[in-house]
Amino acid sequence: MKAVMRSLLVLTAALIAPLALAACGDASTPAADEAPKAPPPPALTDAEKAALLAALPAPYDAGDLENGRRAFARCRSCHTITPNGPHMAGPNLYGVFGRQAGSDPKYSYSHAVRNAGFAWDAEKLDHWLQNPKSFLPGNKMTFAGLRDATDRRDVIAFLKVETGYRAEP
Ligand code: HEC
Repeated sequence: MKAVMRSLLVLTAALIAPLALAACGDASTPAADEAPKAPPPPALTDAEKAALLAALPAPYDAGDLENGRRAFARCRSCHTITPNGPHMAGPNLYGVFGRQAGSDPKYSYSHAVRNAGFAWDAEKLDHWLQNPKSFLPGNKMTFAGLRDATDRRDVIAFLKVETGYRAEP
């Protein structure tokens, strides 16, 4: 129990620190017409990752992050997941949860994805990863899909933890 409390405290501190910094403001504050850019969050410790995982809605709170990492090996040739990571064949996925599909301005999407008209959540991602071709016909993600539902659960949990997703308070 103590260990859990401690990791929650560490997590809270990690989440609050960047907010406090952002609130200070200084000479480098962006001009009003520029979207303010949040500073990249510090890398998470294993305890912080475990706490984030535990806070996910079911069934993702039961996800296996190690298996998710292994499943993500099948995406890595085309996707980075670090903050401001480069686009490769596919777009960078940092911050993908809650983001409108096809909305990264620096990536050239197919019409199918750009006009999908929804924001990515676990459910949408689960359908997309099950069968990318039929979920958004005409898209250009040449990936056969992840057949195994447990692999999809785990890769989604892994991505939620690694790409900056935070549960609503
Ligand atoms: C062979 C390369 C390739 C692989 C492998 C691949 N993707 Fe993609 N992915 C793409 C491309 C290309 C797009 C853009 C599709 C389009 O615009 O039609 C994309 C788009 C996406 C999007 C939509 C992003 C957005 O900004 O709307 C998500 C989410 C995604 N991929 C997740 C995954 C995950 C998770 C895996 C592994 C399980 C994976 N992809 C495997 C190439 C790939």
